[in-house]
Amino acid sequence: MTTLTINGESRSIKASPDTPLLYVLRDELGLNAAKYGCGLGQCGACTVMVDGKAVFSCITPVMLLQGRTITTLEGLGTVEAPGPMQRAFIAEQAAQCGFCIPGMMMRAQALLNRVPHATDQSIRAELQPHLCRCGTHMRILRAVRRAAEDMKPKTAEARTER
Ligand code: FES
Ligand code: FES
Repeated sequence: MTTLTINGESRSIKASPDTPLLYVLRDELGLNAAKYGCGLGQCGACTVMVDGKAVFSCITPVMLLQGRTITTLEGLGTVEAPGPMQRAFIAEQAAQCGFCIPGMMMRAQALLNRVPHATDQSIRAELQPHLCRCGTHMRILRAVRRAAEDMKPKTAEARTER
């Protein structure tokens, strides 16, 4: 049995070790934020964070993830208490169908954790692997900028503490 750390909790996984993380999240653990788009690492809909880095969960077998820290969109906040990235996407009404949005948020979160003062250029470059068929790109960019503003003080504090 594989044991994974997801959103701060240790979870025992029954699926075979070569099962992609996306199927385990959705089918076994009921964590449905990450979406199945292409299943081939080409659309970004399934993106989660592993050790703080954006990863396509559709092509990442769980056997590679023991002892690593996995964060899904559910780990960024709840419906009752959304996190800064989620609040920013709501405020900017960045979703149309919403299918691409969880993946976009996870990669944007990984970027801002790494580079709190990310420029527009780097936000655009970072989100390149993500497809949005609805074309809400400009709202998505505004949402990430808003999230960056909102997260700045906390991140700056965290950096000085290190
Ligand atoms: S579903 Fe994983 S990249 Fe498209
Ligand atoms: S909002 Fe529909 S795919 Fe992006």
